[in-house]
Amino acid sequence: MDRKESFAAHIKSGYACKGDSIIIGGAMLDGVPLGGEALVRVPLKTMNRHGLIAGATGTGKTKTLQVVSEQLSEKGVPVLLMDVKGDLSGLAKPGEEKPFITERMAKIGLPFESKGYPVELMSISRQNGVRLRATISEFGPVLLSRILDLNDTQGGVLSVVFKYCDDHQMPLLDLKDLKKVLQYVTEEGKAEIEKEYGKISATSTGVILRKLLELEQQDADLFFGEESFDIADLMRKDKDGRGYVNILRLTDIQDKPKLFSTFMLCLLAEVYGEMPERGDLDKPELVIFIDEAHLIFKEASKTLLTQIETIVKLIRSKGIGVFFVTQNPMDVPKEVLSQLGLKIQHALRAFTAVDRQAIKLTAENFPISDFYKTDEVLTSLGTGEALVTALNEKGIPTPLAVTMVRAPQSRMDILSPEEIDSINRSSNLVSKYNQVIDRESAYEMLNAKIEKAGRLAEEEAARKQQEAARRQPERAGRTTTRRRTGVHPVVKVLTSATFIRGVFGVMNKVIK
Ligand SMILES: Nc1ncnc2c1ncn2[C@@H]1O[C@H](COP(=O)(O)OP(=O)(O)OP(=O)(O)O)[C@@H](O)[C@H]1O
Ligand SMILES: [Mg+2]
Repeated sequence: MDRKESFAAHIKSGYACKGDSIIIGGAMLDGVPLGGEALVRVPLKTMNRHGLIAGATGTGKTKTLQVVSEQLSEKGVPVLLMDVKGDLSGLAKPGEEKPFITERMAKIGLPFESKGYPVELMSISRQNGVRLRATISEFGPVLLSRILDLNDTQGGVLSVVFKYCDDHQMPLLDLKDLKKVLQYVTEEGKAEIEKEYGKISATSTGVILRKLLELEQQDADLFFGEESFDIADLMRKDKDGRGYVNILRLTDIQDKPKLFSTFMLCLLAEVYGEMPERGDLDKPELVIFIDEAHLIFKEASKTLLTQIETIVKLIRSKGIGVFFVTQNPMDVPKEVLSQLGLKIQHALRAFTAVDRQAIKLTAENFPISDFYKTDEVLTSLGTGEALVTALNEKGIPTPLAVTMVRAPQSRMDILSPEEIDSINRSSNLVSKYNQVIDRESAYEMLNAKIEKAGRLAEEEAARKQQEAARRQPERAGRTTTRRRTGVHPVVKVLTSATFIRGVFGVMNKVIK
């Protein structure tokens, strides 16, 4: 057997699957795809073991993400894509078969079938599409403390505030609610709170309020509130059994890393909290791709990072795969990196000493191969080619394979504004989630309470004055009593199924 034959046999046996799998592309030796049956397959069964798509700019990461999403959708696995650069909407429409695509597919030895996929467009800010929101109550004080990077004392204060609202059936829906309560507990409500829960330091609430302001400056007020998102809506299939490709449009989020990490953590925690334990499944329930993943790790505090690591580790058993897409694999924290089953590494560039160090480290993180010099391969891969290693059905790393990635079958370009509008118009989710609801919550209830207390105090003062006047009739004519109107009744509103999933929110189940 010559070298080529033995390589083909090595790939064929290394990537053999009994169950269902997706095909990333064709294995290459010495820069040439072998064709035939030397295909690089990833078993669906191990797609919940997380992954990484890395590579320098323009090397093909986004197209790989598109290819993997298409394949998953076809196999009935819904995906959620964080579209930071806004270049993924083309998944909704069939691609055009250009000569370079025909050629690529012929080399790999796969047919090309031009097709679009079922797409929902989503947003956490001002973009068109299904609005994803979460309430402060759902978020819970533990997670919020992590996001705001509060110390133990401040975190404790936040927990008391949540407890107070829970005890008094005051929904905390948006930032307005939370800010109001934080003010109330050290001002008008000070005596009441002290009696029930002990003293709350105004310094702590001051810090929390200041940090909330920072979050607000990154548009977090758009994200907190109702109608809060039901994660089951991310796991839909179309009538042909294809998984939905949910594209979260985040082009306006690049300069808002705090909002992005807040959202990501909330999403992961929510998915973790809501999904039942699944054990070993034939295929994942949902795969989440985080493009430009360095954005969630940038500016994240140590505690927040630990939190993300923990959830990523745990979420696997719920049948959820998380894939990080980033330029440099070193952007992803070591602890997360070590948990990743599928690695698709596009070319890296060796401009500086730091680059060379990164390449060396990256190469060392791949299985050893008799057929390649990994560090050399890393800098010489062509566009749309990548070093791949996956986990086979037994959970053992597959042989390292330089892979020519198949071409996306959907459009490689973005949708026009008209096409985007048309998708949104026909979406059921848009009508479900896009109404603005501001039902009575902590903000309104506390205002009413303060108003009522003020009125009672005034009435009391007036009564005292009248009494005094009775005793001293000569001064009675000079008093006037101001009466406020428009007092709302304090009603218990507990209608939404999403309201308060336990005082501590979703995170209670994850961390103790
Ligand atoms: N699998 C593929 N099939 C066909 N063409 C590809 C493939 N991968 C990459 N290309 C070509 O390379 C170009 C760049 O790829 P892509 O946009 O995926 O790079 P990227 O790594 O995401 O870049 P950036 O870091 O700038 O986001 C594509 O526009 C396409 O022309
Ligand atoms: Mg890209």
